[in-house]
Amino acid sequence: MVELLPSILSADFANLERDVQAAERGGGTVIHVDVMDGHFVPNITLGPPVVKSLRKATRLPLDCHLMIENPNDFIPAFAEAGANWVSVHYEACPHLHRTLEMIVGHGMKPGVVVNPATRIDVVEEILPMLHHVLVMTVNPGFGGQQFLQFTLDKVRWLAKIRAERKLTFRIEVDGGIAHDTVAEAVQAGAELLVAGNAVFGDGHAEQNAASLLLAARLAAKSGQV
Ligand code: DX5
Ligand code: ZN
Repeated sequence: MVELLPSILSADFANLERDVQAAERGGGTVIHVDVMDGHFVPNITLGPPVVKSLRKATRLPLDCHLMIENPNDFIPAFAEAGANWVSVHYEACPHLHRTLEMIVGHGMKPGVVVNPATRIDVVEEILPMLHHVLVMTVNPGFGGQQFLQFTLDKVRWLAKIRAERKLTFRIEVDGGIAHDTVAEAVQAGAELLVAGNAVFGDGHAEQNAASLLLAARLAAKSGQV
């Protein structure tokens, strides 16, 4: 089932509760929270205190995308703050299996993220323990970037291997998802659709979320998903 995950990176940080609730009314079912540390990516956003406040603003699951170095150091704090899903970058985790076990050990659902230039088959060994795999469809760090078409081959690979091995992880895409790209992402096999700029960019989050979700559902119906 396709789901829309509004990314608060493009929301108004002074009005997060208002914006999150608007996106929820428009059909968003999981809130995507971009955590950046100024080291792993060239931008800084937010950390556990903001997650803790968001936890009071919505009952939807909070999907925390950690674009940070040494994520192990912060997993307990995100759990404490009320995060539900936590994904870490393959590129930031030399001991990825241990990091994923730590996420599970703190009662959260584990995901792995791969950058556009990273081969997808590096996650093959750990697929059975994942709740989701996040394929970056832009280079992480900023909202409003252009969708990188070639990354959809990774989505197709994931969908194929999941079916062949009867696995259960979900396939998430993040970056440049908008009206002109959502159909091809869904038809490639993506089902968790992160969208920042396309939802919050112009101040009409409810309407934008609703129309993007409609486009995604239509693509799912007409495609192979
Ligand atoms: C990028 C973030 C994304 C970002 C996507 O580093 O991981 O979640 O918000 O933004 P859009 O949808 O604007 O490309
Ligand atoms: Zn993200």
